[in-house]
Amino acid sequence: MDASGAQEYDRMQDLKDFDKTEAGVKGLVDSGLQKIPKIFVRPAEELAEDLKHKRAQIEVPVIDLGGLEKADRRKQIVEEVRTASETWGFFQVVNYGISLNVLDEMLDGIQKFNEQGDEEKKKYYTRDNRRRVRFNSNYDLFASRTASWRDTLNISFSDTDQNDSEELPALCRKSTVEYSKHVVELGNILFGLLSEALGLKPEHLGNMDCSKGHRLTCHYYPACPEPELTLGTAKHSDPGFLTILLQNQINGLQIFFQNQWIDVQPIRGALVINIGDLLQLVSNGKFRSNKHRVVANRLGPRISVACFFSGPIIMDKVFYGPIEELISEENPAIYKEVLLSDYVMKFIAAGLDDNFLVNYFKV
Ligand code: OGA
Ligand code: NI
Repeated sequence: MDASGAQEYDRMQDLKDFDKTEAGVKGLVDSGLQKIPKIFVRPAEELAEDLKHKRAQIEVPVIDLGGLEKADRRKQIVEEVRTASETWGFFQVVNYGISLNVLDEMLDGIQKFNEQGDEEKKKYYTRDNRRRVRFNSNYDLFASRTASWRDTLNISFSDTDQNDSEELPALCRKSTVEYSKHVVELGNILFGLLSEALGLKPEHLGNMDCSKGHRLTCHYYPACPEPELTLGTAKHSDPGFLTILLQNQINGLQIFFQNQWIDVQPIRGALVINIGDLLQLVSNGKFRSNKHRVVANRLGPRISVACFFSGPIIMDKVFYGPIEELISEENPAIYKEVLLSDYVMKFIAAGLDDNFLVNYFKV
Protein backbone atom coordinates (compact mmCIF):
# COMPACT_ATOMS: atom_id res chain seq x y z
CA MET A 1 0.00 0.00 0.00
CA ASP A 2 1.27 3.50 -0.69
CA ALA A 3 0.35 6.67 1.23
CA SER A 4 -2.95 7.09 -0.60
CA GLY A 5 -3.95 3.57 0.39
CA ALA A 6 -3.89 2.31 -3.18
CA GLN A 7 -2.35 -1.06 -3.85
CA GLU A 8 1.23 -0.48 -4.93
CA TYR A 9 1.87 -1.74 -8.38
CA ASP A 10 4.32 -4.64 -8.36
CA ARG A 11 6.03 -4.10 -11.68
CA MET A 12 8.63 -6.81 -11.17
CA GLN A 13 5.93 -9.40 -10.52
CA ASP A 14 4.07 -8.34 -13.69
CA LEU A 15 7.27 -8.62 -15.72
CA LYS A 16 7.92 -12.10 -14.35
CA ASP A 17 4.35 -13.20 -15.04
CA PHE A 18 4.56 -11.92 -18.61
CA ASP A 19 7.92 -13.60 -19.19
CA LYS A 20 6.63 -16.87 -17.78
CA THR A 21 3.90 -17.11 -20.42
CA GLU A 22 6.72 -17.47 -23.02
CA ALA A 23 4.09 -16.34 -25.52
CA GLY A 24 5.35 -12.77 -25.92
CA VAL A 25 3.36 -9.73 -26.98
CA LYS A 26 1.70 -11.83 -29.68
CA GLY A 27 0.28 -13.98 -26.88
CA LEU A 28 -1.28 -10.91 -25.24
CA VAL A 29 -2.81 -9.76 -28.51
CA ASP A 30 -4.22 -13.24 -29.16
CA SER A 31 -5.93 -13.15 -25.77
CA GLY A 32 -8.00 -10.27 -27.19
CA LEU A 33 -6.94 -7.48 -24.85
CA GLN A 34 -8.08 -3.93 -25.69
CA LYS A 35 -5.85 -2.02 -23.27
CA ILE A 36 -2.13 -2.54 -23.07
CA PRO A 37 -0.74 -3.81 -19.74
CA LYS A 38 0.95 -1.24 -17.50
CA ILE A 39 4.46 -2.65 -18.03
CA PHE A 40 4.28 -1.33 -21.62
CA VAL A 41 3.03 2.18 -20.78
CA ARG A 42 5.69 4.88 -21.06
CA PRO A 43 5.99 7.38 -18.19
CA ALA A 44 3.81 10.49 -18.62
CA GLU A 45 6.82 12.84 -18.74
CA GLU A 46 8.34 10.84 -21.58
CA LEU A 47 5.10 10.97 -23.57
CA ALA A 48 4.89 14.73 -23.02
CA GLU A 49 8.53 15.22 -24.04
CA ASP A 50 7.82 13.41 -27.28
CA LEU A 51 5.05 15.81 -28.25
CA LYS A 52 7.57 18.68 -28.17
CA HIS A 53 9.51 17.33 -31.13
CA LYS A 54 8.36 18.37 -34.55
CA ARG A 55 7.84 15.80 -37.28
CA ALA A 56 9.64 16.71 -40.47
CA GLN A 57 8.95 15.44 -43.94
CA ILE A 58 12.56 15.04 -45.02
CA GLU A 59 13.77 11.68 -46.25
CA VAL A 60 16.79 9.58 -45.47
CA PRO A 61 19.17 9.43 -48.49
CA VAL A 62 18.53 6.58 -50.94
CA ILE A 63 21.71 5.31 -52.61
CA ASP A 64 21.58 3.34 -55.86
CA LEU A 65 24.37 0.75 -55.79
CA GLY A 66 23.88 -0.16 -59.47
CA GLY A 67 27.02 0.07 -61.62
CA LEU A 68 29.40 -0.31 -58.69
CA GLU A 69 31.87 -2.19 -60.89
CA LYS A 70 32.49 0.92 -63.03
CA ALA A 71 35.22 3.13 -61.55
CA ASP A 72 33.41 6.44 -62.18
CA ARG A 73 30.17 5.23 -60.72
CA ARG A 74 31.95 3.73 -57.71
CA LYS A 75 33.56 7.07 -56.93
CA GLN A 76 30.18 8.75 -56.99
CA ILE A 77 28.65 6.07 -54.75
CA VAL A 78 31.53 6.37 -52.25
CA GLU A 79 30.84 10.11 -52.05
CA GLU A 80 27.15 9.50 -51.37
CA VAL A 81 28.00 6.91 -48.70
CA ARG A 82 30.46 9.35 -47.09
CA THR A 83 27.98 12.23 -46.94
CA ALA A 84 25.19 10.05 -45.55
CA SER A 85 27.48 8.39 -42.97
CA GLU A 86 28.85 11.73 -41.74
CA THR A 87 25.46 13.38 -41.36
CA TRP A 88 22.58 10.94 -40.91
CA GLY A 89 24.48 7.78 -40.08
CA PHE A 90 21.65 6.21 -42.08
CA PHE A 91 20.78 5.55 -45.72
CA GLN A 92 18.68 3.19 -47.79
CA VAL A 93 20.18 1.17 -50.65
CA VAL A 94 18.57 -0.08 -53.85
CA ASN A 95 19.98 -2.22 -56.71
CA TYR A 96 22.37 -4.11 -54.48
CA GLY A 97 21.87 -7.50 -56.08
CA ILE A 98 19.58 -9.44 -53.71
CA SER A 99 16.35 -10.56 -55.39
CA LEU A 100 12.94 -9.50 -54.07
CA ASN A 101 12.10 -13.14 -53.71
CA VAL A 102 14.88 -13.71 -51.16
CA LEU A 103 13.69 -10.69 -49.14
CA ASP A 104 10.02 -11.72 -49.26
CA GLU A 105 10.81 -15.29 -48.24
CA MET A 106 12.87 -14.06 -45.29
CA LEU A 107 10.01 -11.88 -43.99
CA ASP A 108 7.48 -14.60 -44.70
CA GLY A 109 9.48 -17.18 -42.73
CA ILE A 110 9.57 -14.85 -39.70
CA GLN A 111 5.84 -14.23 -39.95
CA LYS A 112 5.19 -17.99 -40.08
CA PHE A 113 7.47 -18.64 -37.11
CA ASN A 114 5.64 -16.08 -34.98
CA GLU A 115 2.17 -17.08 -36.10
CA GLN A 116 2.50 -20.81 -35.50
CA GLY A 117 1.22 -22.38 -32.26
CA ASP A 118 2.84 -21.32 -28.99
CA GLU A 119 4.15 -24.78 -28.16
CA GLU A 120 6.62 -24.81 -31.05
CA LYS A 121 7.79 -21.24 -30.35
CA LYS A 122 8.31 -21.97 -26.65
CA LYS A 123 11.01 -24.49 -27.53
CA TYR A 124 13.17 -21.51 -28.49
CA TYR A 125 12.14 -19.12 -25.68
CA THR A 126 15.22 -18.27 -23.64
CA ARG A 127 17.25 -15.42 -22.14
CA ASP A 128 20.48 -17.41 -22.31
CA ASN A 129 22.78 -15.39 -24.57
CA ARG A 130 24.99 -18.40 -25.20
CA ARG A 131 22.25 -20.11 -27.18
CA ARG A 132 22.61 -19.61 -30.90
CA VAL A 133 18.86 -19.37 -31.55
CA ARG A 134 16.90 -17.33 -29.03
CA PHE A 135 13.28 -16.29 -29.05
CA ASN A 136 11.96 -13.88 -26.42
CA SER A 137 10.09 -10.65 -25.87
CA ASN A 138 12.27 -7.66 -24.91
CA TYR A 139 15.83 -8.95 -24.38
CA ASP A 140 16.14 -6.16 -21.77
CA LEU A 141 12.73 -6.79 -20.12
CA PHE A 142 14.14 -6.60 -16.58
CA ALA A 143 16.56 -3.70 -17.22
CA SER A 144 14.54 -1.18 -19.26
CA ARG A 145 12.13 1.41 -17.83
CA THR A 146 9.27 0.32 -20.10
CA ALA A 147 8.64 -2.88 -22.00
CA SER A 148 8.27 -2.59 -25.78
CA TRP A 149 5.58 -3.96 -28.06
CA ARG A 150 7.57 -6.64 -29.89
CA ASP A 151 8.83 -10.22 -29.89
CA THR A 152 12.22 -11.18 -31.29
CA LEU A 153 13.95 -14.22 -32.73
CA ASN A 154 17.76 -13.96 -32.68
CA ILE A 155 20.02 -16.16 -34.77
CA SER A 156 23.81 -15.88 -34.52
CA PHE A 157 26.17 -16.87 -37.31
CA SER A 158 29.77 -17.54 -36.48
CA ASP A 159 32.48 -16.97 -39.01
CA THR A 160 34.71 -19.73 -37.68
CA ASP A 161 32.39 -22.62 -36.76
CA GLN A 162 30.07 -24.61 -38.93
CA ASN A 163 26.61 -23.07 -38.60
CA ASP A 164 24.33 -26.07 -38.34
CA SER A 165 21.10 -25.05 -40.06
CA GLU A 166 19.18 -27.84 -38.28
CA GLU A 167 19.28 -25.63 -35.16
CA LEU A 168 17.04 -23.08 -36.89
CA PRO A 169 13.25 -23.28 -36.55
CA ALA A 170 11.86 -25.32 -39.45
CA LEU A 171 9.43 -22.64 -40.67
CA CYS A 172 12.15 -20.08 -41.34
CA ARG A 173 15.19 -22.32 -41.82
CA LYS A 174 15.65 -22.32 -45.57
CA SER A 175 14.78 -18.65 -46.08
CA THR A 176 17.07 -17.50 -43.25
CA VAL A 177 20.08 -19.49 -44.45
CA GLU A 178 19.57 -18.07 -47.94
CA TYR A 179 19.12 -14.45 -46.80
CA SER A 180 22.11 -14.72 -44.46
CA LYS A 181 24.42 -15.65 -47.35
CA HIS A 182 23.30 -12.66 -49.41
CA VAL A 183 23.36 -10.15 -46.60
CA VAL A 184 26.96 -11.07 -45.72
CA GLU A 185 28.00 -10.41 -49.32
CA LEU A 186 26.28 -7.03 -49.17
CA GLY A 187 27.95 -6.35 -45.82
CA ASN A 188 31.36 -6.93 -47.39
CA ILE A 189 30.53 -4.58 -50.27
CA LEU A 190 29.42 -1.90 -47.82
CA PHE A 191 32.53 -2.25 -45.63
CA GLY A 192 34.56 -1.72 -48.84
CA LEU A 193 32.64 1.45 -49.69
CA LEU A 194 32.79 2.73 -46.10
CA SER A 195 36.58 2.14 -45.99
CA GLU A 196 37.01 4.20 -49.15
CA ALA A 197 34.68 6.84 -47.78
CA LEU A 198 37.09 7.19 -44.85
CA GLY A 199 39.96 7.65 -47.33
CA LEU A 200 41.33 4.15 -46.63
CA LYS A 201 42.02 1.15 -48.85
CA PRO A 202 38.79 -0.76 -49.67
CA GLU A 203 39.87 -3.76 -47.59
CA HIS A 204 40.72 -1.78 -44.44
CA LEU A 205 37.57 -2.38 -42.37
CA GLY A 206 37.33 -5.96 -43.65
CA ASN A 207 40.90 -6.60 -42.46
CA MET A 208 39.89 -5.33 -39.03
CA ASP A 209 37.34 -8.19 -38.94
CA CYS A 210 34.35 -5.82 -38.78
CA SER A 211 32.33 -8.23 -40.90
CA LYS A 212 33.37 -11.36 -38.97
CA GLY A 213 30.30 -13.08 -37.61
CA HIS A 214 26.84 -11.57 -37.70
CA ARG A 215 23.48 -11.87 -36.02
CA LEU A 216 20.02 -11.78 -37.51
CA THR A 217 17.62 -10.15 -35.08
CA CYS A 218 14.14 -10.75 -36.41
CA HIS A 219 11.43 -8.56 -34.89
CA TYR A 220 7.68 -9.14 -34.91
CA TYR A 221 5.66 -6.07 -33.86
CA PRO A 222 1.99 -7.07 -33.47
CA ALA A 223 -0.78 -4.52 -34.12
CA CYS A 224 -1.18 -2.46 -30.94
CA PRO A 225 -4.55 -1.28 -29.53
CA GLU A 226 -3.00 1.82 -27.86
CA PRO A 227 0.06 2.72 -29.97
CA GLU A 228 0.39 6.25 -28.55
CA LEU A 229 1.20 4.88 -25.07
CA THR A 230 4.11 2.60 -25.92
CA LEU A 231 6.91 1.95 -28.41
CA GLY A 232 7.91 -0.96 -30.63
CA THR A 233 11.60 -0.37 -29.85
CA ALA A 234 12.89 2.31 -27.46
CA LYS A 235 15.25 5.03 -28.65
CA HIS A 236 18.76 3.62 -29.03
CA SER A 237 21.84 3.46 -31.21
CA ASP A 238 23.16 0.13 -32.48
CA PRO A 239 26.27 -1.06 -30.62
CA GLY A 240 28.11 -2.89 -33.43
CA PHE A 241 29.85 -1.64 -36.57
CA LEU A 242 27.05 -1.75 -39.11
CA THR A 243 23.40 -2.78 -39.39
CA ILE A 244 21.50 -3.84 -42.50
CA LEU A 245 17.75 -3.74 -41.90
CA LEU A 246 15.04 -5.41 -43.95
CA GLN A 247 11.51 -4.18 -43.16
CA ASN A 248 8.05 -5.02 -44.45
CA GLN A 249 5.63 -2.32 -45.59
CA ILE A 250 4.27 -1.38 -42.15
CA ASN A 251 5.74 1.95 -40.98
CA GLY A 252 7.42 2.39 -37.64
CA LEU A 253 11.15 3.13 -37.90
CA GLN A 254 12.10 6.72 -37.00
CA ILE A 255 15.49 8.42 -36.84
CA PHE A 256 16.32 11.26 -34.48
CA PHE A 257 17.89 13.85 -36.75
CA GLN A 258 18.30 17.60 -36.20
CA ASN A 259 16.17 17.37 -33.10
CA GLN A 260 13.17 15.84 -34.86
CA TRP A 261 11.84 12.36 -35.49
CA ILE A 262 12.05 11.44 -39.17
CA ASP A 263 10.02 8.49 -40.51
CA VAL A 264 11.94 6.01 -42.63
CA GLN A 265 9.40 5.14 -45.30
CA PRO A 266 9.56 1.50 -46.32
CA ILE A 267 10.59 1.26 -49.97
CA ARG A 268 9.84 -2.13 -51.46
CA GLY A 269 13.12 -3.88 -52.28
CA ALA A 270 15.26 -1.37 -50.38
CA LEU A 271 17.37 -2.08 -47.28
CA VAL A 272 18.14 0.41 -44.53
CA ILE A 273 21.81 0.74 -43.60
CA ASN A 274 23.05 2.38 -40.43
CA ILE A 275 26.37 3.09 -38.76
CA GLY A 276 26.79 1.53 -35.29
CA ASP A 277 28.66 2.82 -32.22
CA LEU A 278 31.83 0.82 -32.95
CA LEU A 279 32.15 2.33 -36.42
CA GLN A 280 31.71 5.77 -34.89
CA LEU A 281 34.52 4.83 -32.51
CA VAL A 282 37.00 3.42 -35.05
CA SER A 283 36.28 6.30 -37.45
CA ASN A 284 37.17 8.62 -34.55
CA GLY A 285 33.77 10.26 -34.75
CA LYS A 286 33.81 10.90 -38.50
CA PHE A 287 30.85 8.59 -39.04
CA ARG A 288 27.78 8.93 -36.84
CA SER A 289 25.89 6.24 -35.01
CA ASN A 290 22.48 7.84 -34.86
CA LYS A 291 19.64 7.25 -32.44
CA HIS A 292 16.50 5.66 -33.74
CA ARG A 293 13.38 3.87 -32.49
CA VAL A 294 10.28 2.05 -33.71
CA VAL A 295 6.84 3.44 -32.91
CA ALA A 296 3.94 1.08 -32.26
CA ASN A 297 1.18 0.91 -34.85
CA ARG A 298 -2.51 0.13 -34.87
CA LEU A 299 -1.73 -1.85 -38.03
CA GLY A 300 0.36 -4.95 -37.98
CA PRO A 301 2.32 -6.97 -37.89
CA ARG A 302 5.41 -4.94 -38.70
CA ILE A 303 8.23 -7.40 -39.40
CA SER A 304 11.88 -6.42 -39.62
CA VAL A 305 15.17 -8.27 -39.77
CA ALA A 306 18.25 -6.46 -38.51
CA CYS A 307 21.60 -7.94 -39.48
CA PHE A 308 24.21 -6.75 -36.98
CA PHE A 309 27.90 -6.87 -37.83
CA SER A 310 29.57 -6.54 -34.44
CA GLY A 311 33.03 -8.04 -34.95
CA PRO A 312 34.45 -11.32 -33.60
CA ILE A 313 32.70 -11.08 -30.21
CA ILE A 314 33.35 -14.70 -29.29
CA MET A 315 37.12 -14.18 -29.30
CA ASP A 316 39.04 -13.00 -26.25
CA LYS A 317 41.36 -10.02 -26.33
CA VAL A 318 40.08 -8.19 -29.39
CA PHE A 319 40.55 -4.44 -29.00
CA TYR A 320 39.11 -1.64 -31.11
CA GLY A 321 40.19 1.99 -31.09
CA PRO A 322 40.32 4.89 -33.55
CA ILE A 323 42.09 3.89 -36.79
CA GLU A 324 45.67 5.22 -36.81
CA GLU A 325 45.47 6.64 -40.33
CA LEU A 326 42.59 8.87 -39.20
CA ILE A 327 44.50 10.39 -36.31
CA SER A 328 46.94 13.27 -36.51
CA GLU A 329 48.07 16.22 -34.44
CA GLU A 330 45.13 18.27 -35.69
CA ASN A 331 42.82 15.29 -35.28
CA PRO A 332 43.69 13.58 -32.00
CA ALA A 333 41.90 10.41 -30.91
CA ILE A 334 38.63 11.26 -29.19
CA TYR A 335 37.96 7.66 -28.06
CA LYS A 336 39.94 5.14 -26.04
CA GLU A 337 40.53 1.55 -27.09
CA VAL A 338 37.84 -0.88 -25.97
CA LEU A 339 38.05 -4.57 -25.26
CA LEU A 340 35.29 -5.95 -27.48
CA SER A 341 34.05 -8.65 -25.08
CA ASP A 342 33.89 -6.14 -22.22
CA TYR A 343 31.99 -3.67 -24.37
CA VAL A 344 29.44 -6.30 -25.41
CA MET A 345 28.90 -7.36 -21.78
CA LYS A 346 28.22 -3.75 -20.80
CA PHE A 347 25.66 -3.44 -23.58
CA ILE A 348 23.80 -6.59 -22.61
CA ALA A 349 23.63 -5.60 -18.94
CA ALA A 350 22.08 -2.18 -19.58
CA GLY A 351 18.56 -1.52 -20.87
CA LEU A 352 18.39 -0.58 -24.55
CA ASP A 353 17.12 2.88 -23.68
CA ASP A 354 20.17 3.62 -21.47
CA ASN A 355 22.79 2.73 -24.02
CA PHE A 356 25.05 5.01 -25.99
CA LEU A 357 28.25 3.23 -25.35
CA VAL A 358 30.77 5.34 -27.20
CA ASN A 359 30.16 8.06 -24.64
CA TYR A 360 31.78 5.82 -22.01
CA PHE A 361 34.92 5.60 -24.09
CA LYS A 362 35.62 9.28 -24.71
CA VAL A 363 39.24 10.23 -24.03
C1 OGA B 1 17.22 -2.71 -34.03
C2 OGA B 1 16.33 -1.74 -34.70
C3 OGA B 1 14.47 -1.36 -36.18
C4 OGA B 1 13.27 -2.08 -36.69
O1 OGA B 1 16.89 -3.91 -34.00
O2 OGA B 1 18.28 -2.28 -33.52
O3 OGA B 1 16.60 -0.57 -34.64
O4 OGA B 1 12.67 -1.55 -37.61
N1 OGA B 1 15.28 -2.22 -35.38
O5 OGA B 1 12.94 -3.14 -36.19
NI1 NI C 1 18.61 -0.28 -33.97
